[in-house]
Amino acid sequence: MVKIGVLASGNGSNLQAIINACESGVISGAKVVIVLSNHRDAYCLERARKHNIEGIFVDPKEYENTEKYSQKLSELLKEKQVELVCLAGYLLKLGNSLIKQFENKIINIHPALLPKFGGKGMYGHHVHEAVLAAGEKESGCTVHFVNEIYDSGRIILQKKVPVYDNDTPDTLAKRILEQEHKAFPEAIKIVINNQF
Ligand code: GRF
Repeated sequence: MVKIGVLASGNGSNLQAIINACESGVISGAKVVIVLSNHRDAYCLERARKHNIEGIFVDPKEYENTEKYSQKLSELLKEKQVELVCLAGYLLKLGNSLIKQFENKIINIHPALLPKFGGKGMYGHHVHEAVLAAGEKESGCTVHFVNEIYDSGRIILQKKVPVYDNDTPDTLAKRILEQEHKAFPEAIKIVINNQF
C-alpha cells in the first residue's frame, strides 16, 4: 500500500479528489495517511478529519526559517512512512532538505500549462490574470515533480481547457479546477505504477 502525504494551504478540493480516488479504488493500492497545512483553520484539515486521516496544522511562525519548517514537515511525513508527497494547493516554498529527502517523490499541481505562466508569484488568480492578459486561447493544469526551482520539475501530465473571450479569472479558474480533479489522481496512478 503506497502511503501518500498531502500538503495543502486552503480549501483542499484537490485533496478531496485524491482521497476519493484512493477510497473508490480509482487509485488502487494507495491511501492518504496524513495531511499537513500551514493554516490552522484551512478546510483541507476538516476534509482529512472527515475521512479519519490525521490532519495537522504546522505553524510557520514557530520555525525561524524555511529549512527548519521543512524539517518538521519531513519528520511528520517520515513518521507516517509517506512514500509520495502531493502538494495540493500548497503555497509555501519547500526547503531544499525536504526536496532532497523526498527526491522524485514530491508532485505538485499548477493551474496553467507549464513552463508558461509558472514561477515565483504565479499562483491562484495571478496565473489566470496573466493568461487572460496574454490573450491565450487555451490554458489548463500541469502535474509535475518538484525540485528546487519553482514549477520547473519534470512534467507528468497536463490537461487543457479553452479560454473564451468573455472569461474572467474566476470562470477560467473554475474550468481548470474541474480538470485538476481529474489530472491529480491520474498523475498519482502514473507515478505509483512507474516508481513503486
Ligand atoms: C488549485 O487551483 C491549484 O491549482 C492551486 O491551488 C488551488 C488549490 O485548490 N495550486 P484546492 O485547495 O485544492 O481546492
